[in-house]
Amino acid sequence: MKEHHDVWDRDVEQVLISETQLDETVSRMAAQIDADYKDKNLLLLCILKGSLVFMGDLMKKLSIPCEIDCMKVSSYGNGSVTSGRINILLDLHRQDLSEKDILIIEDIIDSGRTLSYLVSYLQINGARSVRSAALLDKPSRREVDYNPDYVGQEIPDAFVVGYGLDYAEKYRSLPYVGILKPEIYTE
Ligand code: IMP
Ligand code: MG
Repeated sequence: MKEHHDVWDRDVEQVLISETQLDETVSRMAAQIDADYKDKNLLLLCILKGSLVFMGDLMKKLSIPCEIDCMKVSSYGNGSVTSGRINILLDLHRQDLSEKDILIIEDIIDSGRTLSYLVSYLQINGARSVRSAALLDKPSRREVDYNPDYVGQEIPDAFVVGYGLDYAEKYRSLPYVGILKPEIYTE
């Protein structure tokens, strides 16, 4: 672990996915996307803020052309408990969705509510195609019948932070994915 993350490292119980493993996982996903979207008109849609780091690394590894855009939604309150509601905080403002093959870039899929909502929303708004890529998947937590088209790694039902993922806006800049000590979110 890097020294400059000292303060936050102490709140992490266990490193679940190292920087090296993340790099390999993202490379593998990029290779799949490269092959599948060769003859398409790829628009990578970053779901802020948790997917920022994944998006940045993934787009650099693609060899096919793509455009990027961002949306921001909220499904969680301030902490680790889901509210079950999806609010659009930053919408797409584009007139060319009918020409775009959208790939939603998401940090983690949990209940599945965020991704299933976004897929329908973008389809209703006329996108040529809509698929999704989630770096992390907690299949045991699913509440709706939706699975991403690309998954980096399945993980157990634990609250994870780092590589873009936060708890109360902290830990996003950690370069690895780690399991947060439960005492951090249970007081
Ligand atoms: P879903 O709608 O329940 O699938 O929730 C997906 C969103 O919940 C993700 O984009 C994250 O923002 C958040 N989330 C779910 N699990 C975790 C976690 O373990 N750490 C941090 N954020 C999480
Ligand atoms: Mg998120």
